[in-house]
Amino acid sequence: MFAGFTHEPAIKLAESLLDIAPAYNKVFFTDNGSTAIEVALKIAYQYWHNQGKNRSHFVAFEGAYHGDTFGAMAVGKTSGYYDPFFDLLQEVTFLPFPATWMGDHALEEKETAALKALDDYLNKHALETAALIIEPLVQGASGMAMCRPSFLEAVFKRCQAAGVLTIADEIMTGFGRTGKMIACDYLDGVYPDFLCLSKGITGGFLPLAVTLCRDHIYNAFLAETYAKALTHGHSYTANPLACAAALASLDVFEQEQTPQKIITLCETQRAWAQRLLDHPNVEKVRHQGTILAFNLKDFNTTQIKKFKRLVIEAGLNIRPLGSVVYTLPPYCLTAEQLHTAYIRIIDCISQLK
Ligand SMILES: Cc1ncc(COP(=O)(O)O)c(C=O)c1O
Repeated sequence: MFAGFTHEPAIKLAESLLDIAPAYNKVFFTDNGSTAIEVALKIAYQYWHNQGKNRSHFVAFEGAYHGDTFGAMAVGKTSGYYDPFFDLLQEVTFLPFPATWMGDHALEEKETAALKALDDYLNKHALETAALIIEPLVQGASGMAMCRPSFLEAVFKRCQAAGVLTIADEIMTGFGRTGKMIACDYLDGVYPDFLCLSKGITGGFLPLAVTLCRDHIYNAFLAETYAKALTHGHSYTANPLACAAALASLDVFEQEQTPQKIITLCETQRAWAQRLLDHPNVEKVRHQGTILAFNLKDFNTTQIKKFKRLVIEAGLNIRPLGSVVYTLPPYCLTAEQLHTAYIRIIDCISQLK
């Protein structure tokens, strides 16, 4: 167990993760993405509580998905997955997310409006706010909505200036997905207070997650009395096998030149995004690093179900999110294999009308 103890795989993994994300120096282990978020929310709240401040409000973005536990559901309330639980979820303020795609002429307008909404909120409520949470660059499960790095940076800078803590949910975007090791690597001179990682941490092999933060947060929990401690732990916290799997996965990253494979996948995705732009049944094509997404244009539920069946029959594991089709290729996939997949995807789309 990890309560009051430690072990070598956890120590080594913590060191490796802090090399990957050098803006941080403390690691809190858990075993799934939702809990890594829950922990960040709890730490943010208790950080203020330990200083005698009642800052219990959270801010999130419309459409965001942060997991299935209660705190995570509350900040992901607008993702569309939790309607039966609305009465049980704490109140959260949701700001507009300036989702964009190739050839989007309204982008500047949407970003300006979103930042104005954030400014208005911070002007009135900064001192009641525990933290803001965001999926950096790509909102995953609610439809692969993408924003520009400059927007992300503006959000973090504004929160920092207003003294509001920030949480980056990189459960999906971490470990190369957006083209850099973490999506926050696209930022210049600003880092969120919390970084949550899971999924790719073990290459999908065993469950594990972490919440990273810095000393200024950690120090607020140091005291002679137990009352200031973060009493959060699970049976599988920092499971040694899972930590060993994460270390092995990071070795594979290095030994099998995964960064180069990621660059190749990014280039392949970019090229296919251009080609998809011309397809009459496709709209809102967008890509960020190894992720490509688009919407099926004017399709109803029956046709989307048909598309799902067609792609599975074509040998592809593709799960549309409503009318959004996306590819998130494993890093072992070659450019040729990805080309083959797109030829089949396009064939399936063309069969729909
Ligand atoms: C951005 C994001 N946050 C949180 C989660 C929750 O992670 P888990 O399913 O491991 O609880 C997910 C899972 O899809 C996710 O994509």
